[in-house]
Amino acid sequence: MSSGDVDADRTRLGRDSASGTRETFSGDTLEIIRAVAARLAGLAQKLADTLAQDMQAVRERDPAARSNLEILTCYPGLHALWFHRVAHALWQKDVPLAPRLISQLGRFVTGIEIHPGATIGEKFFIDHGAGVVIGETSEVGDNVTLYQGVTLGGTGKETGKRHPTVGDNVVVGAHSQLLGSIDVGKDVRVGAGSVLVHDAPPNTTVVGNPGRPVVSEGAKVGIPDIDYTHLPDPMAEAMKCLVRRVVQLENEVEELRKSAGGSTATKPRTTAKKTRPARSTKASDDACDQSRLDGTPEV
Ligand SMILES: CC(C)(COP(=O)(O)OP(=O)(O)OC[C@H]1O[C@@H](n2cnc3c(N)ncnc32)[C@H](O)[C@@H]1OP(=O)(O)O)[C@@H](O)C(=O)NCCC(=O)NCCS
Repeated sequence: MSSGDVDADRTRLGRDSASGTRETFSGDTLEIIRAVAARLAGLAQKLADTLAQDMQAVRERDPAARSNLEILTCYPGLHALWFHRVAHALWQKDVPLAPRLISQLGRFVTGIEIHPGATIGEKFFIDHGAGVVIGETSEVGDNVTLYQGVTLGGTGKETGKRHPTVGDNVVVGAHSQLLGSIDVGKDVRVGAGSVLVHDAPPNTTVVGNPGRPVVSEGAKVGIPDIDYTHLPDPMAEAMKCLVRRVVQLENEVEELRKSAGGSTATKPRTTAKKTRPARSTKASDDACDQSRLDGTPEV
């Protein structure tokens, strides 16, 4: 109906009803129709934006994706996500059964099972897809990538929140199992075939079974952080010991000369530190341990 027709209708109604009752009713109806139309247009726009964003995620993260048509038709991860978006919207409205049925239909078509209760962020991408399972209380951030065979599952021991929370920009390698109500921090990379049952700190690479961080903040984990400007110098240490021992021996010879009544012309020598007293010749002298002069100095 054109706006001209609506105005004509209004005019007619105004003439027909002296009390104005019918005119008011017609005005309300028009308002409702306009509001519903606006809301539908808003929803359609939002849906179009979301779908475009989902396709963009595929284009950005899979170099094999060549055209929009290919992305639309050849990416089961994308289809599974769209099934999930519908199922999740209904789940949030407490619609019974239908969300699970849609989820199972998605699983049948794509081989990917996402429980309608799972919360999934923007630009989510499941590459290849087959065998991916995402449990009911999983929470997935933005820009997350999962490869085939990944499970965001429960351990079977927990109730309530029992599935992982995965931060933004996380990549989970093929066939990795993330189990339990664990937190996988932002920017984590989970190596293919890993099993995570504990939290993963942000910005780490976690690999193995059980998963352990091997790279943190861009640096390999487990390699000591050496202070290169203060490295020990074993040769210099050994030389210092030798000098101390020589001075010590000279002092002792001087003592012996004195006690034998010999010349005292030669004064006991000292090192640069003049306060140093004459020292004993004990082999265990810790300042200059014999072992440190044997070519295997302690450092
Ligand atoms: C973990 C991964 C993301 C690399 O992350 P990264 O931060 O660049 O880590 P690095 O390559 O520096 O590896 C760090 C250490 O972890 C080891 N490592 C890497 N991936 C591993 C894995 N999946 N399992 C066990 N160890 C692994 C490396 O050998 C290296 O060990 P080293 O220090 O003893 O040499 C990558 O190896 C991976 O597994 N990607 C998954 C991709 C995938 O699933 N593809 C499927 C396509 S179909």
